[in-house]
Amino acid sequence: MERTLVLLKPDAVQRDLIGEIITRLERKGLKITGLKMMRLSDELLNEHYSHLVGRSFFPEVKSFMQLTPVVALCLEGVEAVDTVRALCGITKAREAAPGTIRGEFAMSVQANLIHCSDSLETAKAEVPRFFKAEELFEYKDILETYVYNSSERE
Ligand code: PPS
Repeated sequence: MERTLVLLKPDAVQRDLIGEIITRLERKGLKITGLKMMRLSDELLNEHYSHLVGRSFFPEVKSFMQLTPVVALCLEGVEAVDTVRALCGITKAREAAPGTIRGEFAMSVQANLIHCSDSLETAKAEVPRFFKAEELFEYKDILETYVYNSSERE
């Protein structure tokens, strides 16, 4: 199964959307294997957004992500990376498809509620960036039989 990283951004925290968003991710059938609230340091954000250094909006993205603590999740599931991306909708939230998290609740490219890993390779770097090994949990999901068929679970 794949693991992917999700961050609920300061707009999700301030707009009381933490529960709504986590409910959507849970109800899809994704398994939560890590969950915490944290403040993001300059150092962590410089690493996380290193691909944006030099973009005009980089300083604002950084300061936005430090307005409040964020909620970090590690989610597990079959093809979890693409599944979570589809649930989120596109970056420019006002154009995100209806039914997606951004499409339903956000208007901005920056205040778009949620960050999710954009590829399996990125997820493999992002999960350990935000979670120590002891903060990630392995446990039996008793509903797995009702979420996937046997070949999907292999
Ligand atoms: S880009 O432009 O292709 O790099 O965009 P993307 O990879 O989708 O977005 C990377 C993160 O930068 C944020 N972003 C912006 N913030 C402010 N202004 C503008 N114009 C802007 N464009 C992108 C966007 O919210 C992404 O944040 P994360 O945390 O990765 O979702």
